[in-house]
Amino acid sequence: MSQSLSFHVTRSDHPRSAAERAKILEKPGFGLHFTDHMVAVRWDKDTGWHDAAVMPYGPIALDPAAAVLHYGQEIFEGIKAYRHADGSVWTFRPEANGRRLQRSAARLALPELPVEIFVESLKQMIAVDKDWVSDADEASLYFRPFMIGDEAFLGVRGAHKASYYVIASPAGPYFAKGVAPVAIWLSTDYARAAKGGTGAAKCGGNYAASLLPQQQAQAQGCSQVLFLDPVEGKYLEELGGMNVFLVYGKRNTLVTPALSGSILEGITRESILQLARDRGMTVEERKVSIDEWKQGVASGDITEVFACGTAAVITPIGQLKGEGFTVGNLDAPAGEVTMSLRKELTDIQYGRLPDRHGWLVRL
Ligand code: PLP
Ligand code: COI
Repeated sequence: MSQSLSFHVTRSDHPRSAAERAKILEKPGFGLHFTDHMVAVRWDKDTGWHDAAVMPYGPIALDPAAAVLHYGQEIFEGIKAYRHADGSVWTFRPEANGRRLQRSAARLALPELPVEIFVESLKQMIAVDKDWVSDADEASLYFRPFMIGDEAFLGVRGAHKASYYVIASPAGPYFAKGVAPVAIWLSTDYARAAKGGTGAAKCGGNYAASLLPQQQAQAQGCSQVLFLDPVEGKYLEELGGMNVFLVYGKRNTLVTPALSGSILEGITRESILQLARDRGMTVEERKVSIDEWKQGVASGDITEVFACGTAAVITPIGQLKGEGFTVGNLDAPAGEVTMSLRKELTDIQYGRLPDRHGWLVRL
């Protein structure tokens, strides 16, 4: 469905001063600060999408009976804006995020937002908050588009009213130590998704299910949790908020778990597969058992492992830990393939390399 809406813009009376903004942009962290505006678009069953607006950033009023508060009817996206050397601001494959939001919506019985409105909502945010896109190295503005069912009704069915919002947060590295290798924890007690469940949707509930295992990972000194397939508990799926890749250096091969229906179809994942093919690597999307990882590292066949996602970009994984075992060495430097794929991807995103696949969209 192709549809456009015109956005009604109300500018904030109290935007942060240039000095306040500069102070935040100096050390933004991840997800800590928000820009001066947000987007809201309403939907109801009779009217469809309507009332598109840009407004000052602030609390949203919800009826206490709103569906999202009781049955978790929420989906979201994560996508960044990058400032290029000439000052222009670009984003990466927004139609792919827009289509994924539609698939998530379908799974959660929420309305599908037309992709045109999704892309336009990001453009509207930049029209008012462009100054929040820092030109510092590796800095970006992280958009968090999300949708909630907000009909006030306690019966269990898809809400007849929903709202789509976009907020934006200036972002530095997702992990406190930047691009340094991280340790991850193998969760064998918990799965993040079930067969036939919502694993392939980007919905809040999946993240809620990952928080306890994530706490366990942190208690073990690890920064992310790795989940196995929910049926056999044997094959790698993904991390709490990232996809995972193994590099078989000697045979110039990149391996990542196949999309199983319970893994998020990462846009970074798909882009890395393309970049790897372009440089003549063999890419394999298939089942990867946890034993293959352990044995591959021990035998030297697996030379590098990394995580990827919009927030994490490409982050080297130095060590895998689990109940009674440790694989890899956290002190080893990040792998060459990992870092060169990372450089190529970010060079495209920041306009330092030609955009040969047409992935960039100017905001
Ligand atoms: N897997 C999960 C569970 C995620 O939350 C994310 C982040 O969005 C990803 C994978 C990577 O997806 P993308 O590369 O589209 O950001
Ligand atoms: C993203 O990378 O956009 C995500 O949603 C992951 C989350 C851990 C921040």
